Amino acid sequence: MHILVTGAAGYIGSFVTRSLINEGYQVIALDNLQQGHREAVHPDARFVEVDLCHVPVLRNVFEQYPIQAVVHLAAVSFVGESVVNPQKYFQSNLVFGLNLLDIMLEHKVLELVFSSSAAVYGSPDAKPIREDQPVVPPLNPYGETKLIFERILQRYEHAYGLKYIALRYFNAAGADNGLGEDHRPETHLIPNVLKVALGQGEALPVFGTDYPTHDGTCVRDYVHVADIAKAHVTALRNLGCMKSSRVYNLANGKGFSVLEIVTAANRVTGVKIPVVYRPRRQGDPACLIASAERAKSELGWQPVHQELEDIVRSAWLWQKEHPHGY
Ligand code: UFG
Repeated sequence: MHILVTGAAGYIGSFVTRSLINEGYQVIALDNLQQGHREAVHPDARFVEVDLCHVPVLRNVFEQYPIQAVVHLAAVSFVGESVVNPQKYFQSNLVFGLNLLDIMLEHKVLELVFSSSAAVYGSPDAKPIREDQPVVPPLNPYGETKLIFERILQRYEHAYGLKYIALRYFNAAGADNGLGEDHRPETHLIPNVLKVALGQGEALPVFGTDYPTHDGTCVRDYVHVADIAKAHVTALRNLGCMKSSRVYNLANGKGFSVLEIVTAANRVTGVKIPVVYRPRRQGDPACLIASAERAKSELGWQPVHQELEDIVRSAWLWQKEHPHGY
């Protein structure tokens, strides 16, 4: 079965591509390599370097391969950047995403797994967050693009019979078997903490110490990227027999503050990581912790890596082996 994966050279995309290939799927791996790394793409995938703005190239891919379903991960995804440059986010995540949907419809490819985000929830009071609670407006343009795209998918289901599963990832983290996190610039907490432990920075900037959380720093729900990848395979398997489209949280149901991440990293690395307190970063919600009960009960998804230290350790092993990334 041929599956098209967009964003296949990115952090999550590289894990998804590998999981699909390990499960026997034929993967057509698309990436513009702006954030992704060619080396991260599984050698058995058919790689096409293309940006979703290049409609003729995309169309050609759909003409060349008998694509059955699409896993759409390609996106720009830095929360802070989205606040200062929303144009880039609306262009890439919505306009270029619509290009993909157009070509899918043209070729009657009507199954999609969409990479959505915890950022659709804004700054909710509920803990844990469930999929069916009323969505408060997203706090940043990045989250807004993900929510709008989910709504487009709803409309496309109704009008054109598109069937989709939107996976709302909480904080993807960790590494394994030669794949890991390498954003440039790196803005994510865990790799940045570990870079300081490796001597690649003097101190970790802690963005905001006056949030309404137990220690004043932001709380997040960290999920191992390999568990997130597995959920895509599970979603694809379920998609064919589902009566209607669904959204699912992918989370561990436990929250850790920025300072708790630093403490876990101190233990894992054996280094006392210095921190420096900075003002809040724009667009950050105080606390995001979710329930993934729906994904567990309906899809049979079961995260393997549930301990924070295991997740941080896996990232540390990768970071030590790849101190300068791929
Ligand atoms: N943080 C620091 N110092 C750093 C980096 C991050 O204090 O050097 C803080 C952030 O301000 C935030 C927390 O650590 O409070 C987590 O930040 P990340 O950048 O690691 O992750 P985010 O929660 O901002 O973003 C992630 C994904 C997004 C997704 C979002 C949902 O990267 O794609 O989770 O909340 F939308």
